[in-house]
Amino acid sequence: FNVPAPVNEPVLNYGPGSKERALLKQALADARSQELDVPMYIGGKAVHTDKKSALRPPHDHQHVLGRYSQGDKTHVADAINAALAAKAAWENLSWEHRAAIFLKAADLIAGPYRYKLNAATMLGQSKNAYQAEIDSACEIIDFLRFNVKYMSEIYAQQPPVSPRGVWNRVEQRPLEGFVFALTPFNFTAIAGNLPTSAAMMGNVVVWKPANTQIYAANVLMEIFIEAGVPAGVINLVYVSGPDAGEVIFNHPDFAGIHFTGSTGVFQDIWKTIGNNIHKFKTYPRIVGETGGKDFILVHGSADADVSATAIVRGAFEYQGQKCSAASRVYVAASIWPAVKEKMLADLATFKMGPTEDLGNFINAVIDEKSFDKLAKYIDAAKQDAGVEIIAGGNYDKSTGYFIEPTVIVTQDPSYVTMCEELFGPVLSIYVYDDADFDGILKTIDETSIYALTGAVIAQDRYAIEQACHALRNAAGNFYINDKCTGAVVGQQPFGGARGSGTNDKAGSMINLLRWSSPRAIKETF
Ligand code: NAD
Ligand code: ALA
Repeated sequence: FNVPAPVNEPVLNYGPGSKERALLKQALADARSQELDVPMYIGGKAVHTDKKSALRPPHDHQHVLGRYSQGDKTHVADAINAALAAKAAWENLSWEHRAAIFLKAADLIAGPYRYKLNAATMLGQSKNAYQAEIDSACEIIDFLRFNVKYMSEIYAQQPPVSPRGVWNRVEQRPLEGFVFALTPFNFTAIAGNLPTSAAMMGNVVVWKPANTQIYAANVLMEIFIEAGVPAGVINLVYVSGPDAGEVIFNHPDFAGIHFTGSTGVFQDIWKTIGNNIHKFKTYPRIVGETGGKDFILVHGSADADVSATAIVRGAFEYQGQKCSAASRVYVAASIWPAVKEKMLADLATFKMGPTEDLGNFINAVIDEKSFDKLAKYIDAAKQDAGVEIIAGGNYDKSTGYFIEPTVIVTQDPSYVTMCEELFGPVLSIYVYDDADFDGILKTIDETSIYALTGAVIAQDRYAIEQACHALRNAAGNFYINDKCTGAVVGQQPFGGARGSGTNDKAGSMINLLRWSSPRAIKETF
């Protein structure tokens, strides 16, 4: 049987005077008033160590939200053993019973934990209320519910032909071994989806989140446990990436990695897995969603207001720290003055400050390393003769890692900030000659070493068609007359190719199938 099609979780409105705003503010105040002791979870047990690290809001780095227990290689080994011990019971549980656990987790997030998880994302990762709501409420709920739906369809699929005297069938089996979920800081939903999508398909998981996402990861894990994920099925460890890698990529039962993060880290991991391939019982599945240098192309026929809104929202929501964020824009010269005027007017309305003040659209970047890197690029642009900074350019880390939304206009489409992933509120713009639309398409494609998201804004249908064709390999998620962020589970499966990943589309059947190793059975009567 099939699970009924879910609907997308509605986005709550936190407007002034609303009940939702009051509840969220209470959750923020509760979280700020305590100093949490955050354990790892191995084999269903909370594991504390003597080595603690502070968790601080990026926008208020003197405040301590909690302290997490740092683990080491022995904890990774313990997590693998706990996962393998849980494997037989978990994979023998029918998929409907596994599904029930994850549907309950979705309901817990939609209901009693919504404000707590949003507050954790707002404080731990410096997201504003709307950005937290679409991530740590709607997107993770959608991942859980839609993945259950896709899973039910996978289990229902059988070979169409069984000649008389034969019964052909396919059994979807989990991978032989354990799966490693290695998750990034920027989306609580992705951190939750990577371990749960593999677990849903009957796998056991070792999960290592980014250190800067541990505060919300801890709340997610509490929810998974309350929903009924059995001991050892998902094990959460806080160790350094290299320590985790050293144990996991040398283990014979390593069966797959579900990764989201930067391209360089993924490439190094792939090389290590390749070098160690003879050590594993089975070829590990390698699924990775990685970096991006996402573009918006504005044609001369575009509506200037639509273009400006798409650019500023696409570039500066969550301080440009979405993998999908627009960071390079190509605008036709004829329309640039109107686009620029509207962009600058919109930017002037953006308030910057801590997430607890719900009026702030821009909050802090994730940490000091990211802040220093971005400040360096901004300083270099200030010195560069071929470059003009038309908005922002200031930064301050005295209380939090704040960087003004910064817009650089360059005369060189290959300028460094047009090509490298900066991962912050720094947008680069190149103004092209309307007559050279073919040339700009070629430039965009040739400079797209990443291929995650992209958009074309135009009213001329021939221009739209031309861009769709010329840029067919330059973005795994392509938008027409919209910003390039905000893919919704169940609507736009998400992922990119080239340097952006294996394009296994998070929130889709394609992704879930990577966590299955089917057995085809032929029975002859
Ligand atoms: P990151 O690569 O720094 O970290 C990702 C994870 O890998 C973290 O858990 C980290 O601790 C771990 N890690 C880091 N170095 C490691 C090593 N040497 N060995 C093993 N593990 C290691 O990424 P991030 O800063 O957390 O996230 C931002 C990056 O993620 C950006 O590049 C962004 O584009 C990308 N991203 C991509 C998508 C997508 O769908 N394509 C989605 C979100 C984020
Ligand atoms: N769903 C997120 C976006 O598209 C990843 O921005």
